Amino acid sequence: MSFVVAIDGPAAAGKGTISKAVAAHFGFAHLDTGLLYRAVGAKVIAGEAPIVAARALDPVDLENDDLRTSAVAQAASEVAVVPAVREALVAFQRAFAARANGAVLDGRDIGTVICPDADVKLFVTASPECRAERRLQELVGKGTETTYDTVLADVKERDARDQNRAAAPLVPADDAILLDTSDLTADQAIAAAIAHVAAVR
Ligand code: C5P
Repeated sequence: MSFVVAIDGPAAAGKGTISKAVAAHFGFAHLDTGLLYRAVGAKVIAGEAPIVAARALDPVDLENDDLRTSAVAQAASEVAVVPAVREALVAFQRAFAARANGAVLDGRDIGTVICPDADVKLFVTASPECRAERRLQELVGKGTETTYDTVLADVKERDARDQNRAAAPLVPADDAILLDTSDLTADQAIAAAIAHVAAVR
């Protein structure tokens, strides 16, 4: 039987770090579903129509190293408001979740829309200021020139778009466990997430 861990939350809350660690700990496959929207966003920047790009999306499109830029992140959150784009990406995500050895999917709507029957649902949050600070360190580490204020504005703009859209808005599932990582180190957040999964597994 497949075992599904759904990890949702806003940008830069720590979902990626936690998801990778949970997947590695339990030997589950991991899908960062933001990459699907980023791959569509990158194709739109390159001139394709959003719905056409989403329907033609190929798993190899997810391996593009340029998907991590803030321009692509903004384009991703713009295509993510289009219901037909979201619908085109559902089957791929559900097929991934059905993997027999277990799967961790992280995103915005995994516990609410993609896998409403997930075995464990975590909603990972942190204050916008804290998320902006972490994202700044990450960008600076990669040699990107930016400022705290730019990154904070970026985080808030994406939060607003993700929370206020009509199709699959960013909201915790009723049965999600909230994990606020504002005052936690990465190791503490990972340990808390692993403990929640272990309690059910
Ligand atoms: O998680 P990440 O920052 O890579 O996601 C990029 C954008 O893709 C998000 O801002 C959000 O608008 C969209 N997204 C989504 N649903 C998901 C994952 C990402 O709408 N499951």
